[in-house]
Amino acid sequence: KKYYIGCDIGGTSVKLAIIKEDGVIFDKWEIPTNSMNNGESIPKDISNSIKEKMKNHAISIEEINGIGAGAPGYVDVPNGIVIEAVNIGWKDYHLKKELEELLHVPVFVLNDANLAALGENWLGAGQGSDNLIAVTLGTGVGGGIVVNGEVINGSNGTGGEIGHIIVTPNEGYLCNCGRKGCIETYASATGFVKQGLEAIENGLETTLSETLQLSGKLTSKDIFEHAKNGDNVSKQIIEKNADLLGLMLANLAVTTDPDKIIIGGGVAKAGNQLLTPLKAAFSKFVLGKINETCEIFIAQLGNDAGVVGGAYYVKQQLQK
Ligand code: BGC
Ligand code: NA
Ligand code: ZN
Repeated sequence: KKYYIGCDIGGTSVKLAIIKEDGVIFDKWEIPTNSMNNGESIPKDISNSIKEKMKNHAISIEEINGIGAGAPGYVDVPNGIVIEAVNIGWKDYHLKKELEELLHVPVFVLNDANLAALGENWLGAGQGSDNLIAVTLGTGVGGGIVVNGEVINGSNGTGGEIGHIIVTPNEGYLCNCGRKGCIETYASATGFVKQGLEAIENGLETTLSETLQLSGKLTSKDIFEHAKNGDNVSKQIIEKNADLLGLMLANLAVTTDPDKIIIGGGVAKAGNQLLTPLKAAFSKFVLGKINETCEIFIAQLGNDAGVVGGAYYVKQQLQK
């Protein structure tokens, strides 16, 4: 069989790809995520779209080894059930079963960030590493922890839920998980925007207010651009979030002693503007021995990490 299908389900879009044995993407595309009725129509949307693409390329279902699907929440991996994905509305959702009934190929479901970690490990910034931590800074903060070449899912599928590591105990913003002070409320794209809006509301002097007035909204990219142009409020937001992320990663690093930490997701597009203060914070907080050996990199696969990881995960599972 020649192909794998990678399927990365996010809060706003589903990224899909047909991938060859060696990880080369044959074709990739996106469809919108329909979260109406608690995401009930998503499997049907996915399967229709895959069937249509395969027809266009004259690929038959017999040529597909399987589908590796990532979902943005807790996943019961052996059963392919999404226990909870807040952004989509899924609760105890039998994603594997639904997709297999529609497409008649083996489906393997994993947490989205775990899948992205595998993608970076296979063909991105984590190549050659057996112990790494991959972080995605997007709508939420996701994480994938690879130990001895395998991603950790834990006993409930919440292994690697590093976005919910608390960095400001008993204070800070309320998180989607119901607690306060999770790193996700700071270092996600949503967290950056929230802090920008808060600064404007509090009447701080910042050029962000001009952008808000002009475009009616703020993005995390705006914060980095304004910082580049000298806006102090934007600079402080980046400094603070990088410091908290560095603290979280430094504390996390003692659990598995990774040789690489990889930062991906939309916010990572800021590159060195994020990496430089993050590295400084990590060095400041981390255990000396780990500081000597563990390096932080920006992810290389961008938006493709999840779908590439999907192909890799299917390969790994079918070889077992
Ligand atoms: C969820 C994770 C997910 C991450 C990125 C977090 O809010 O708890 O399961 O991996 O967002 O989508
Ligand atoms: Na994860
Ligand atoms: Zn949380």
